[in-house]
Amino acid sequence: MKPCLLVDKSAGEVFRKKLHQLSLLDNHYKIRRINDKIAFPLKAPPTQELLAELKKLGDFVLSSMEFEELRRKPRDLIEALGDVLTPFELSLLPRSFDVVGDIAIVELPDELLHVKEKVGKALLTIYDNVKAVYMKYGKVNGAYRIRPLEHIAGEAKTETVHKEYGCFFKLDVMKVYFSPRLSWEHWRIASQVKKGEVVVDMFAGVGPFSIMIAKKVRGVMIYAIDINPDAIKYLKENIKLNSVENSVIPMLGDAKDVIETQLRGVADRVIMNLPSDSIKFVQVACKALKENGGIIHYYAFASEDKTFKDVEEEFIVEVSRSGRSVKNILFKRIVRAVAPRTWQVVLDAFIA
Ligand SMILES: C[S@@+](CC[C@H](N)C(=O)[O-])C[C@H]1O[C@@H](n2cnc3c(N)ncnc32)[C@H](O)[C@@H]1O
Repeated sequence: MKPCLLVDKSAGEVFRKKLHQLSLLDNHYKIRRINDKIAFPLKAPPTQELLAELKKLGDFVLSSMEFEELRRKPRDLIEALGDVLTPFELSLLPRSFDVVGDIAIVELPDELLHVKEKVGKALLTIYDNVKAVYMKYGKVNGAYRIRPLEHIAGEAKTETVHKEYGCFFKLDVMKVYFSPRLSWEHWRIASQVKKGEVVVDMFAGVGPFSIMIAKKVRGVMIYAIDINPDAIKYLKENIKLNSVENSVIPMLGDAKDVIETQLRGVADRVIMNLPSDSIKFVQVACKALKENGGIIHYYAFASEDKTFKDVEEEFIVEVSRSGRSVKNILFKRIVRAVAPRTWQVVLDAFIA
């Protein structure tokens, strides 16, 4: 039984506001309607002083009765798991995680592995749009740059459609690379492309750069290469999904072979988003550029051992080995942290 205030329905809103203002209304319980009366659940019986305040609004009856408890969604993992985990475990909960379409991907420290299902279920409770939760259990690796994932809660689905700046990307989180953390970078590059340009996206994945460019800029031609057959399968679907059939050409294969055999001297712009290995492809990227030059968006990893300056110098040397030169570095920035003291960086360079 909870203390409550019974008022005429006609005065309900006035009393509700006042009870809220006086911090008397207990929001964890559902307000009841009983015939022509409204019953407000109270946190505690009002003091004489508060009763005097309420009397100014009109007649009421102080009573007590049962109220239905309202189930409010927790706002974050700490609130959701506050009664379940120890304070130490709560302090280790991830502050952020990736959401790809309706799939959440979390990284948990070893100390939380025994409660991984609880963390997964909590995420499903907090976020209505999340239908499945996976846990990272290894690094992005291999030629296809895929990360091993373990299902920890919700539907055991791995395919989803991710929306980014009005583009749709269908993909399987277990079979292809995709990072929602690169969405602004995809947009940044797409914003630089001019009407009529030819672009070579050397490591296209499911097409976030290529498709965003094609949707944003008219009259472009984008050659989107990837070595992973699943990435190309989804890229083809995404080309249709985004109605850019006339601007994006999917090409399955090793970017080196594809450029050497089919794309020499065609591009105004080359995108090289393979930060782990892009240095090995700089010379062939230069071959893809038109004779009068063009822009390369070069991604790499920088760390304490290999600084951003080292990355830049290495790139400049590699370009010169191809017989061309870096006319100027148009822009550079740290894209994101990928591990403690390791960053993905980008250089936009004009190659003469
Ligand atoms: C880091 S992912 C980037 C994907 C996409 N550009 C994005 O932003 O999401 C790198 C991609 O390069 C592909 N890849 C790796 N080696 C390749 C090669 N030699 N030729 C073409 N694609 C390659 C991988 O399969 C992967 O899809």
